[in-house]
Parts: sequence; structure tokens; C-alpha cells
Amino acid sequence: MAASTSLRFAFVLFWISVLASTALSDLVISKIDRRVDLTSQIVRVVSTLKVENRGHDTVSEVLLPFPDIQAKNMAYLKSSYHEGKGKGKQSAISLPVTLVHPEGMPPELTFYSVSLPRGLGKGDSFTLDVLTVFAHSLKPFPAEITQADAQLVVYQDSAYYISPYEVKVQTLAVRLPSGRVESYTKYPSTKLVDSEIKYGPFENLPPFSYIPIAVHFESSYPFVVVQELEREIEISHWGNVQITEHYNLVHGGAHIKGGFSRIDYQSRPPMRGESSIRHLIARLPPRAHSVYYRDEIGNISTSHLWANSKMTHFEIEPRYPLFGGWRTSFTIGYGLPLRDFLFESDGKRFLNTTFGCPINEIIIDHLIVKVVLPEGSKEISATVPFITNQWQEVKYSHLDIVGRPVIVLEKTNVVPEHNMHFQVYYKFNNLALLMEPFLLISGFFFLFIACIVYMHTDMSISKSSASYLAKQQLDEVRATVQQVQNIINRVLSVHNKLETSLRDLSRTGDVQSCKAVRKAADGLFKDLAKELKPLLGFLQSSPQASQIWPKVEELVAKEKEMQEKLMAKHSTVVDSFEKKHAKRDVENRVASIEQKLAILRQEVDELLDTIDDF
Ligand SMILES: *[C@@H]1O[C@H](CO)[C@@H](O)[C@H](O)[C@H]1NC(C)=O
Ligand SMILES: *[C@@H]1O[C@H](CO)[C@@H](O)[C@H](O)[C@H]1NC(C)=O
Repeated sequence: MAASTSLRFAFVLFWISVLASTALSDLVISKIDRRVDLTSQIVRVVSTLKVENRGHDTVSEVLLPFPDIQAKNMAYLKSSYHEGKGKGKQSAISLPVTLVHPEGMPPELTFYSVSLPRGLGKGDSFTLDVLTVFAHSLKPFPAEITQADAQLVVYQDSAYYISPYEVKVQTLAVRLPSGRVESYTKYPSTKLVDSEIKYGPFENLPPFSYIPIAVHFESSYPFVVVQELEREIEISHWGNVQITEHYNLVHGGAHIKGGFSRIDYQSRPPMRGESSIRHLIARLPPRAHSVYYRDEIGNISTSHLWANSKMTHFEIEPRYPLFGGWRTSFTIGYGLPLRDFLFESDGKRFLNTTFGCPINEIIIDHLIVKVVLPEGSKEISATVPFITNQWQEVKYSHLDIVGRPVIVLEKTNVVPEHNMHFQVYYKFNNLALLMEPFLLISGFFFLFIACIVYMHTDMSISKSSASYLAKQQLDEVRATVQQVQNIINRVLSVHNKLETSLRDLSRTGDVQSCKAVRKAADGLFKDLAKELKPLLGFLQSSPQASQIWPKVEELVAKEKEMQEKLMAKHSTVVDSFEKKHAKRDVENRVASIEQKLAILRQEVDELLDTIDDF
């Protein structure tokens, strides 16, 4: 089985059709050591090359070729050298690297050129380190596994360093994760020791020498691939940097077949799906606050946060474990103190923060970083230590008038090595900072004005309003008028009693009872007049009674006149009776009073009706 699978990988990964031209033969690689790290899903190759000039002309560049099949997955390439003698005193200095298309080279190779810090004269040598990082370079084999299976992957390369120059001595070491090694290509002197396969040393190889190798091994490393990540970094000059990250994530490892059993997953260790994604750890800057994690359904509470002075660790646990080919989308967000990230230099402000994603060892196929600057920012520029697509947008949020300028940085094939600092510079006038508070203050001012106007127009809204008081006073006036009416009616009923007593007198001749009625009437009139007095005083002084007051006043006056006339009539009749005047004589004497009383009575009734309508 092992033999047949290794045979299957033994196809030619790439071949070199044209051999070296003599133009490059001045340089010789006197020694190269390559170390390939396959312990995670990201392939890292560190090479140390010693180059020597054996020609006569000074050489200032070294060409690094990569087969196209590798070059397309290359995410990062860095070349550096060590300055200073002796360990500890050395510091790595980067060398500029550019993509080149030299003539007469095999077409299936991609070339990069490293510029040396100084020209290399005849016989001179120079040692440089090259780090290359590849994404998607471990192929799951088999491509489908069950939940219980270990994930196996294949890595292919050349045992010889592919070089446009002659190579004197070379070695290759391939570091694997600690799991089982299914098979690997063996050449004389190939050794597997402690999860490391060693090839070489190989000596005196001509340019473009190549022999393929394939390594088939177990990798339980979860292949977290973010197909799309959008990071939004929003600066608020009020002291906060708000970061929002939208992830579109897939498990890039061997696809699962035969379904997923949570019971097996939880209970039986061999069936647990070693390579599934159970949780992710985001390493956020210190002093991160308001951290959240949500997906389309809502907030996910199965996340943990712990922090020290250097780092805030945020553990994200998806709703279900992710197996090969499975996807999930989620958003995380957090706030950071502005003073840790915003600085000033040369009259400009600049944001200095990291580019990549805070989750460890993941591959991002497509990354978009948006930096949202405060409204009114000008002269915006970004400095990124590698090539990105850049453009500008405008974002509108509440209270914005012209919108916030947004600088967008786009990059494909992002690996943790890209998690470098980048800067966004901009100019900002502090007056613009007052724009929002000004809007708020004037907004509230107009709101208050509107409230005041509203209170004054509506008559029935508040107990303290004038309209409410007026209504209350009017009710009081109405009640008082009612009381006045009642008293007048009682007075009128006393009038009736007096009239009745006079008729009784002429019928029975009982002077005493007639006088008694008169006496009682006098008392009642006095009492009722006393009751009436404060009511009239109130009505006279109340502005709400101004309309009805003349009528009430007239009513009271007419009644008083009536009372006087009636008393006069009563006295005359009783007096005449006692003096035994002729009946006819008496009638004549009171006739004019009777007439007057009838008119007054009619007027009083009319006034009572008018007041009733009030
Ligand atoms: C989710 O959590 C954030 C932060 O804790 C909170 O502001 C938000 O209201 C929550 N949303 C829901 C739907 O619970
Ligand atoms: C950005 O911050 C990093 C880390 O604090 C620092 O090393 C770097 O010098 C800063 N860059 C600039 C331009 O200030």
C-alpha cells in the first residue's frame, strides 16, 4: 500500500526543459542548507546560501528561481543577511527582492532577484538567508476521510535546490509533525530521525539539477482557511479605535465522509476527529475591551477572554466543530484605546497597527483592511511593508455630513508573516472635532425650543399650564353661579310663602300666623343674604366671570327690589287687616305694587334662564 501510494506521487512535479546558459556561471553556490517546516498547514522554507563570485566581473544580484507550481502558492518571500561578527552582535538586515524575467531561462520557473548590499568582486563570497512561505501546499491524501481517520497529507519538492548556478554542497531537512509518516522518497543517505527527514549532502551539482521527492504523513493540524476576511478599523478622536472583523472560514483539510456523529466526537477519543476545528484563539492587543463574537444567529457565548499586560487572548468556539470542507461565517469586534495606536509626526496624525488577522497560523485567501478616518480628514496615505491594492471610499454614519474617508487595502494570499505594522497618515483640523458636539448641542437646543412652543400651543397637556388653570377657574365660576341660582330660588320660595300667608290671612283672618311667617321670612332673607355675599364677591373678582357677572348682579338687584316691594305689600295688607280697612280699599292701595312685582318676577325668571345657559 505504502509503496503504491509513493509511486503515485512519483509523477514529475515539474521539469526543466532548458539547461543553464553560460551567462550566469560566474556565481557559484558553495553551500546551501534548506530546512522545510511542515508542522502546520503553512509551509515555511528557510535556506542559507553562501554565494561566491568565481568570475572577473563584479556581481550585485542573486537570482532565486521557483517552479511555477510553487510560485503560485508563495505568499511571502524575504531575504536577509547578518551584519556584524560573532553571535549576539549580529542583526538581520533585509535585502530588496524583485520579480524579474531574465532571458534564456526555462519558462516553467519564476525568478526573483535579490540585490546584494555591495558588489561581489572576484573571489568574494556572501551568505544570505531566504525565507519563503507557501499556502495551500500540503495536499490531503486521501482527499476524503471519516471522522475516525487521521488526516494524511502529501508534500512534494525537489531534493536538490533548483539553482541557476552550480551548487557545490547542499543539504535538505524536512521537519514533520510528530504523527505517523506513511512514506517518503528515499535516496542514498536519506534518513528519518525524530520526525525529520534528511536528504544529502549532495555535492557538485550543475545548474538546474532536480530530483523529485514526496512525503506522505499524518497532520492533525486543523487547516483553517479564511476565504475572505474584512477588517474594519474605525478611528474616533474621542479615544477609541473600533475593530470589526467579518470571517468567512472553511476547513481546508481532507473532506469528511460518512457523516458526523457528535456522540462519537464527544465520547470516544479515537473517533474525535483530531483535525477538526474546535476553537480558534485570537491574540488581541492589550487593553482590548467590549469584545464580542457573533454569527448570523446572534451572539455566541461560548467564548472566553483572558488578558495580561502584553496580550488579550480571546478563545472563539464555533457552534459546532468544523470538519474538512465545512464552512462558517462569524464576526468579532473589539475596542482599543486610541492612545496605543494613534501618533503624531510632522503635523500629521498616523495610525500604527498590525495588518493581518489576530488568529494564529491561518491562511487568508482574500483580505480587505478598511481604515475609517474621522470626518474631515485630509491628505490620506498608507505605508504598508508589502504590495497591496489601495483605494478610497466614503462611509456614512449618524451625524455625518460629508461622510468619513475610508482607505481600503486589499491583499490575497496572506499568511501570519504579513501580520506587520502598517501606517495610515492623515491631516486633521481640530475644529472638525467640534462639528459633532456642535450638531448635538444645536440639535438639543432646537428640540427644547420645539418643546416650549408645543407646551404653549396645547391647552390641555400640563397641570401647570395657564390654559389648565383658566379651565379650572372657569369650572369654579360655573359652580358659584349655580350656587347663586340655588339661593335665589330659595329666596323666591320664601316669596311664595309670604304671598301664601297673605291669601291665608284674607281667608282665615289669622293675623298671628301671618306675622309668624313674616318673621321667619325676615330671618331666612338675612341668612340667605349672608350666604350670597362671599359668592358674589368671588364672581365680581374673577376674570373668568366677567361675562356672566352683570347678569348675576342684575338678578340679585331685581330680587332685592322684589323683596322690598313684597315686604311693603305684606306690611300694608297686614296693617290694613288689623285696622279693618275695607277689602276694596286694600286692593287699591297694593295694586301698583302688585303690578311692579309681576314685572320684576318676569325679569327675574328671564335672568335665571339666561344664567342657566352659561
Ligand atoms: C451581543 O453582545 C454585544 C456585546 O456584549 C451586545 O452589545 C449586544 O447587544 C448583544 N446582542 C445580542 C443580540 O444579544
Ligand atoms: C509601529 O509600532 C511598532 C510596534 O510598536 C513599532 O515597532 C514601529 O516602530 C511603529 N512604527 C512607526 C512608524 O511608528
